[in-house]
Amino acid sequence: MAVVLITPPGGTASLATEGWTQTPQGPLGPADRDLLVKVRLAGLWEIPSGQQAQQRAVSKRVKEVGMHLMTDHLKLDEEVRALAAKLNVPLPSQPNTDQQSWIAQLAAVNAGAEYDLLFTRLLRQAHGKVFTVVAAVRAGTRNDLVRPFAQRAVEVVMKHMTLLESTGLVNYSTLPEPPRALATARHSRWRRSSWSTRPRASRPAARTRCCSPGPPTWSSRARCSRRARSAPSRS
Ligand SMILES: [Fe+2]
Repeated sequence: MAVVLITPPGGTASLATEGWTQTPQGPLGPADRDLLVKVRLAGLWEIPSGQQAQQRAVSKRVKEVGMHLMTDHLKLDEEVRALAAKLNVPLPSQPNTDQQSWIAQLAAVNAGAEYDLLFTRLLRQAHGKVFTVVAAVRAGTRNDLVRPFAQRAVEVVMKHMTLLESTGLVNYSTLPEPPRALATARHSRWRRSSWSTRPRASRPAARTRCCSPGPPTWSSRARCSRRARSAPSRS
């Protein structure tokens, strides 16, 4: 059996069976395929939901947003199917389990204000989730066909988030929290390992004063150390 070796991001040769394939437009990885699948899935539930919103929403703005979502995804769906055929990526033909549940929730609620709120909440949450995926592929893909498509997907998802927010019905406190800032996490690790594990009585008083709330840098750490060494120790 022939084994094909390609070089994915990171530069290490890997077996094609791990999910990377070579195409005339560059390597195609699992995240590239996932992007195409997610864009197709988005169309499979947003096209009918956008169409439904035009009939069941009470707010004029929600009806307009539904129309934009439907027409944008009709176009994007054509593009993703053409690209997937070119790259030999199989696509789903039905919404996934989550999307089917959202469609059922929308079908179950009465037309009117309650429908408007649910439509906006479900669609806004779904767009926030998929945005991170398409943005990551746009940033890192090695494939020359996927890159412009990922860019277009980023633009469409961002446009739809903005449209949904323009209804004035989005409750931001119910959205998933953004990931913890890397700098904050690093700062906390540094403080835990070099400071908070020490017995309180042994901590120099000057150290607490010079440790600023921002992320530490090499120069700020050195400054802290110098001040700590020169500070009088507690009795
Ligand atoms: Fe969308």
